[in-house]
Amino acid sequence: MNFKVPRGTQDLLPGVTEKWQKVEEIIRELCHLYRYPEIRTPIFESTELYTRSVGDTTDIVQKEMYTFKDRGDRSLTLRPEGTAGVVRSYVEHKMFGQPDQPIKLSYLGPMFRYERQQAGRYRQFVQFGVEAIGSKDPAIDAEVISLAMNIYSKVGLQDVKLVINSLGDQEVRANHREALVNHFKPHIDEFCQDCQSRLEKNPLRILDCKVDHDHPLMATAPALTDYLNEESANYFDKVKQYLDVLGISYEVDPNLVRGLDYYNHTAFEIMSTSKGFGSITTLCGGGRYNGLVEEIGGPESPGIGFGMSIERLLLALEAEGKELNIEDQLDMYIVAMDEDAKLKAVELASSFRAKGISTELDYTDRKMKAQMKSADRKQATWVIVLGETELAEQQVAVKHMATGDQEKVPFFDLVEYLTKQKQKQMEEK
Ligand code: HAM
Repeated sequence: MNFKVPRGTQDLLPGVTEKWQKVEEIIRELCHLYRYPEIRTPIFESTELYTRSVGDTTDIVQKEMYTFKDRGDRSLTLRPEGTAGVVRSYVEHKMFGQPDQPIKLSYLGPMFRYERQQAGRYRQFVQFGVEAIGSKDPAIDAEVISLAMNIYSKVGLQDVKLVINSLGDQEVRANHREALVNHFKPHIDEFCQDCQSRLEKNPLRILDCKVDHDHPLMATAPALTDYLNEESANYFDKVKQYLDVLGISYEVDPNLVRGLDYYNHTAFEIMSTSKGFGSITTLCGGGRYNGLVEEIGGPESPGIGFGMSIERLLLALEAEGKELNIEDQLDMYIVAMDEDAKLKAVELASSFRAKGISTELDYTDRKMKAQMKSADRKQATWVIVLGETELAEQQVAVKHMATGDQEKVPFFDLVEYLTKQKQKQMEEK
């Protein structure tokens, strides 16, 4: 039997997981600064939560959900995105009743979509996202966008651009919808089957079609921005003003519609402009969803948020040839020559680790030479070799691998010696 990881998923092995951890660390730090504490919701929710929120005409709901019946005959779905679960939790825990709105939350975890596998598109991917629920202040839109942009800049990405649009409010959407139907209807038979059914159900989705995006009618389609009413236009202007204040540059793309139904007003995507990046260039997508909390059964609580996958962030770094600054230095490798030495090695390793000195030793009874080689491969900063003499003298030569320098140190003094050396090294950096 030859088992492989399921299509569209991947094993993250040591060497790669360090990168993930570094990105997660940067994200956590920024969430702390911006005050978006973490929320952890279940990986599956009732299917209806997604059909109601993401929308039953969207690709996600129509084609991409991992839906199953549990033994109690309930229809459940592996979460394809994070917003619905967070909003459900906001309503269920009556967070709308808390005095300080908006409630700002962040999450990071696996999401599942049955998509065609290609570079940057997985069936299980890890999404980091934030939601700010309970405010319709355009300043919070700018804050959310700035957090996302800051993540990319902190990890070292340069070739990114922010694209924004306003989807307007319900009135705007209704007028624009009508204009879209009139625009596409006479030629709808030239479009794919999906677009034909989208025409009446949700014509805005036609603009987001992956099959027909080059059809000439796409470029001439009525733009939502031309239908914005005064309130929506003012709101959009304010968001732009705040972005200007924050020094965040952006492009307005009237065709940016996003693939989920719950959006209105501000919609945005952050794209990679790196030449090395594949055909899917969206790194992050988000927007405002006034009305979603009511849809899920709560009181009026306007919200905004974004989602970004760590996979695409790392691909973008690769495309730009950027390395994360990862520190994972092995401080000490202890070579033990015999069984008595091994006893001492285990004892020393424990005392080193207790003081923050990372330590490795051999567990396969290898000869000294093989252990030294292993220390070399693992790029240990120091090595000590424990044998009969060292045990008799109760001291050992600490070898600094990079310089070859050695210094004899009594066992009782080792922890302090290494701690000081390590401190010195850090100061020199
Ligand atoms: P979304 O645009 O569907 O929005 O996804 C957001 C991000 O998730 C994408 O920009 C991409 O980084 C990542 N992503 C989506 N699908 C895949 C995939 N198959 N493989 C790898 N990465 C993927 C949402 O999910 C909304 N919940 C965002 C949001 C939060 N809006 C408001 N709040």
